[in-house]
Amino acid sequence: MSSSEIARGRNVVVVGTQWGDEGKGKVVDWMTDHADGVVRFQGGHNAGHTLVIKGVKTALQLIPSGIMRDGVACYIGNGVVVDPTHLLSEIERLEKAGVEVRSRLYISESCPLILPFHVEVDKAREALRESSGSGKIGTTGKGIGPAYEDKVARRALRVQDLKHPERFAKKLKELLELHNFALTGYLNGKALEFQPIYDQAMKMAEVLKPMMADVGYMLHKAHLAGANILFEGAQGTLLDIDHGTYPYVTSSNCVAGNAAAGAGVGPQMLHYMLGITKAYTTRVGSGPFPTELEWEKEGTVGYHLSTVGQEKGTVTGRARRCGWLDAAALKRSIIINGITGLCLTKLDVLDGLAEIKMCVGYELDGRTLDILPLDGDEIAACQPVYETFPGWTESTFGVTEWDKLPLNARRYLERVQAVIGAPIDMVSTGPDREHTILLRHPYKA
Ligand code: GDP
Ligand code: IMO
Ligand code: MG
Repeated sequence: MSSSEIARGRNVVVVGTQWGDEGKGKVVDWMTDHADGVVRFQGGHNAGHTLVIKGVKTALQLIPSGIMRDGVACYIGNGVVVDPTHLLSEIERLEKAGVEVRSRLYISESCPLILPFHVEVDKAREALRESSGSGKIGTTGKGIGPAYEDKVARRALRVQDLKHPERFAKKLKELLELHNFALTGYLNGKALEFQPIYDQAMKMAEVLKPMMADVGYMLHKAHLAGANILFEGAQGTLLDIDHGTYPYVTSSNCVAGNAAAGAGVGPQMLHYMLGITKAYTTRVGSGPFPTELEWEKEGTVGYHLSTVGQEKGTVTGRARRCGWLDAAALKRSIIINGITGLCLTKLDVLDGLAEIKMCVGYELDGRTLDILPLDGDEIAACQPVYETFPGWTESTFGVTEWDKLPLNARRYLERVQAVIGAPIDMVSTGPDREHTILLRHPYKA
């Protein structure tokens, strides 16, 4: 076949531009009518992506959000840390609900495994941080950080090790010894036993084997055959291990550039970067948040965002902290991700507010900044500079056309795109797949 005959597909990367929970799952699901495959490329089951289809809610953590559309292939790329116990329970839950999973889920053999001691270490470390007064990160407690540490230290057990019982046993013994040493000697935790972990892993290996795959190569071939791929990011840019509000971050790169490395494909396959941005800001866990509002007190704007937005974590059930949209933080996300266009979500949550604020910069030690600084202590000391807009009384819930939005909502959105320097290509006005305004389709841009 000559190169002119090759039918290459078009691919879209979806990333969160804030501290996660921007509505990535909803938007990925909405776009799967144009995709042949969806691939997760980082994070693990710390993610909680909620989809609502004709009023029925599904929460996904590790399985790509393409699973709810028949016939869409779902891939877990090498950049994802996989807890096999969790994965099997998620598969089971979906299959019980009538969704076919096993025949179209492909798990990269290179994924590092999350094993029970990673969870113990994660929890014990958080408890120690709290009791020693150094302040906890507020992790999801799923073992994500410790599993990525083992990967980087080149001692991780990977999905492919499950196919080789002796190799698995040897590596497990060494790794468990190390973690038990830390757990008992330093972290005030308890040691775990080898045998139950090994037996359980070998049992799960039999179920997982048919789904193990060379995901990067599969994606390459699918792309050459003309398939459209959707890269589904988890967490958000401000939680990125390098670019986020360190150390209050997750342990992977959540930015679009990592979609290639974490899925096992070349960067030439990333065509359109779709940034998902909530019309305000939320954050779960600890760490600086310049535009945070008082959100627990009834009658406050923060309380409105928290309750109308139903801002409760999908994974841990924790309340999400709430605040105004931070365009100066978004500006950094837009640059780092090379955002092509944005989907602004949860616009409907702003309905009924008398006025709406957007942070356009910060005052810090007598200086004015137009972008989020890199130092966590500086971020914590930043005083937001706001622009204020009149709100609207009409309901935007479920609106599907730009022209049907209240004038003040359109003015707010137009000003957001002018300040952040990226076009708003989509607006989400409700949790359901159908509650979406399309201005420019990422697969047709
Ligand atoms: P993700 O982690 O980025 O996929 O986001 P989550 O699913 O954790 O959180 C977003 C929440 O907002 C979910 O409960 C969604 O169902 C809901 N949601 C998404 N888009 C909208 C929207 O436009 N309006 C409203 N009211 N809810 C939305
Ligand atoms: P989705 O994909 C929001 C946060 C945790 C904690 C920090 C580190 O649903 O947007 P970790 O367990 O990853 O070591 O925790 O990161 N966090 C998220 N916050 N949405 C997420 O995912 C998150 N995944 C991790 O709350 O502050
Ligand atoms: Mg979430």
